Amino acid sequence: MTTTGLDLDATTTLVHPPATGREWWRSAVIYQVYPRSFADADGDGMGDLRGITARLPHLVRLGVDALWLSPFYTSPQHDAGYDVADYRQVDPRFGSLADADALLARAHELGLKVLIDLVPNHTSSDHAWFQEAMAAGPGSPERARYVFRGGKGEAGEQPPTNWRSVFGGPAWSRVTEADGSPGQWYLHLFDVTQPDLNWENEEVRLELESILRFWLDRGVDGFRVDVAHGLVKDQSFPDWDHRTGMVSGNDEDPDAHDPGPSPYWDQPGVHEIYRRWHAVLEEYDGDRCLVAEAWADGPEKIAAYTRPDEMQQAFNFDFLSTPWDAKRLRASITGGLQASDAVGAPCTWVLSNHDVVRASSRLGLGETGKGPNGIGAEDPQPDAELGLRRARAAALLMLALPGSAYLYQGEEIGLPEHTELPDELREDPAYFRTDQAEKGRDGCRVPFPWEAAEPGFGFSPTGATWLPQPQEWARYAVDVQEGVPGSTLETYRTALRLRRELDLGNGPLAWLGDPSETVLAFSNGDLRVVVNLGEAPVAVGTLTVVLASGPLEETSDGDVLVPSDTAVWLG
Ligand code: GLC
Repeated sequence: MTTTGLDLDATTTLVHPPATGREWWRSAVIYQVYPRSFADADGDGMGDLRGITARLPHLVRLGVDALWLSPFYTSPQHDAGYDVADYRQVDPRFGSLADADALLARAHELGLKVLIDLVPNHTSSDHAWFQEAMAAGPGSPERARYVFRGGKGEAGEQPPTNWRSVFGGPAWSRVTEADGSPGQWYLHLFDVTQPDLNWENEEVRLELESILRFWLDRGVDGFRVDVAHGLVKDQSFPDWDHRTGMVSGNDEDPDAHDPGPSPYWDQPGVHEIYRRWHAVLEEYDGDRCLVAEAWADGPEKIAAYTRPDEMQQAFNFDFLSTPWDAKRLRASITGGLQASDAVGAPCTWVLSNHDVVRASSRLGLGETGKGPNGIGAEDPQPDAELGLRRARAAALLMLALPGSAYLYQGEEIGLPEHTELPDELREDPAYFRTDQAEKGRDGCRVPFPWEAAEPGFGFSPTGATWLPQPQEWARYAVDVQEGVPGSTLETYRTALRLRRELDLGNGPLAWLGDPSETVLAFSNGDLRVVVNLGEAPVAVGTLTVVLASGPLEETSDGDVLVPSDTAVWLG
């Protein structure tokens, strides 16, 4: 096969200067722990806080700076805990407040910061407030905490608007009033068990600020803010001909007419809420941090959440959603950095989380990008080997970028999606609300494999796991990769050590050479990074190889050859 030569001394284009601020969150690598599926101490097959505490040394060895815990609060678990019934209590499935305090204390002792998940757009329908709202009736202050409206039609039998739930189906449900008559409708942008709070109501604002203080007082270092772009709704409640899907693209019918601006996503009013939260965090010592989960259009809109008096970070999902294509990735990285530089915030980088098909499977699909909402046994299966090779290259790309990077548990061992889960075990509300058209997110939430030879791969002392693990996961288990040179785990560990030593998170980024169809080449300080997304191997000269995502080759002249779907760090 022909090879391509790359001149690393060709034109350089500086797109991002070194960071000036030194707060930890500007450059942190943050590891997402999904409490149900990380480690189970009590043996019931569902992960818990004591399990997480016991496994914290894994995070230290990996070399991350912080962890983010998905929700562990009291919840009926209709959306895996993103339906919170009590924001100040730990669900007994996950432990107790004392367990949360112990986890925080241990993490801090080990030098890890801790972010927790805050779900301000909606509560669970089991929340005391919603129960009170149901009992109190129309026009009451209790109903004014949520978005209740009378229906359209002669007898109010039609929903107030045509809005659709992200999980499928209508976004309004009608209640039965205390006297048994059909009554008002309440809004739920997600599941019917997740009523949206009314952010026009000062009582709601004060309550969420009090919840922030409750956890800040206990010592958390910050919050990941769920659905941060959704809190404020256009109070004229116009119809909107569009369904925003969970991850399967923004439109059910891409040929449909442009629906115009959304009446509930990214309303200008959300920013006022985060200015107030910023002030709450300022009352506390240390560099506390808010990170927005905001799916807004384009990097500038996302960066608006991180203006100096708002949040510290926002997830940059554009990077995650960009297909495996050198030109498009270069444009996405440039766009993300420039938009966040314009507001003085760090850019963030994410490849996987609990809502999307895992990167090592997504990148093995015929079409790369944001991916489908889950993969089922009868769907086209990802090419596991190709996906893993690309995911490892993507990891070395991501971890060399300046800013803050997020890892989702399992990413560091190259864990694939469970693509053959039996349908009867699925729990994601999106699976049910789309009439099973979308498989949903359970496949990226399967319990973690720690030890290959143990029952349940060491997830739980009894071997129980709330979702079954594929047998072939034995080869991904932590203990199998531990100490094995070139294993995915050891590659991540080395990358994170070097990232820290070379201070890559605070470094400058310059592209080397012109945009290319197949190769990404950039420098971050003295480090040069080449990612080959094409088919032909790329010759990169005789620089010292510091780290590579896979085996390299060499020309007869001793030049390093970077094979297809491989990334290399050069000194
Ligand atoms: C966010 C969460 C997701 C959840 C949804 C509703 O997108 O990441 O898991 O289902 O919000 O809270």
